Amino acid sequence: MTIKAAVFDAYGTLYDIQSVAAVTEDAFPGYGDIITQIWRVKQLEYSWLRSLMRRYEDFSVITRESLAYTIRVLGLQHDATVFERIMDKYLHLDLYPDARAALAALKDKKLAILSNGSSDMLNALAKNSGLDRVLEAVISVDSKKIFKPAPDAYTLIEARLSVTPDEVLFVSSNPWDACGAKAFGLNVAWIERVTPEAMALACVKSDVVPPLTMFKALRTQMDELGITPDHRIHALSELPNLIA
Ligand code: LAC
Repeated sequence: MTIKAAVFDAYGTLYDIQSVAAVTEDAFPGYGDIITQIWRVKQLEYSWLRSLMRRYEDFSVITRESLAYTIRVLGLQHDATVFERIMDKYLHLDLYPDARAALAALKDKKLAILSNGSSDMLNALAKNSGLDRVLEAVISVDSKKIFKPAPDAYTLIEARLSVTPDEVLFVSSNPWDACGAKAFGLNVAWIERVTPEAMALACVKSDVVPPLTMFKALRTQMDELGITPDHRIHALSELPNLIA
């Protein structure tokens, strides 16, 4: 496998979407965790529904709509200023601690993001985190008007980087995205940040399942889709050895 390009999913892979919890908890004390989890679940669900319905709206619209849904169903008071403050955090998500070093160690490869994020969201995020200085391309699915895991979305990699799918290692922590990339024909490294053992431990019989545990059960475990990524790693820091 001669890898010429390492292409990364953004939200959940390079950037920690759980870092919005600081802002959601500040905005709605006691609701931070449940807002964070319902918001992400709905955000992804809306990207899939809009793709299937052929009713594309960019990811900033979907992120707004899913946040509005979350605030409404929890019976919380909608305040435009608070809403915008929470939305702004999506442009300032925390990078995973090992992201910079992992990208630096791969600097001899073409490095890019391929994300469902809109171009505006991703360019702001890359600039705010400084990754715009190390990435050759920040690729949004916007131009295809359909979200990952639709095959069309992954064709943007070869178009933008002038590489063939067999020369690409696609990296995602999102099982549905890792499976979509594999189904398309890319080499895929899935970042399994929550091991099955840790998941089982978190679900030990307890009266209440915290929202984060429910999220982990829904969105961090490999799905039953009959598709297996090429590599199962636990952190970005494992990548340089994988494609040295
Ligand atoms: C991304 C999120 C949706 O495409 O995983 O960056």
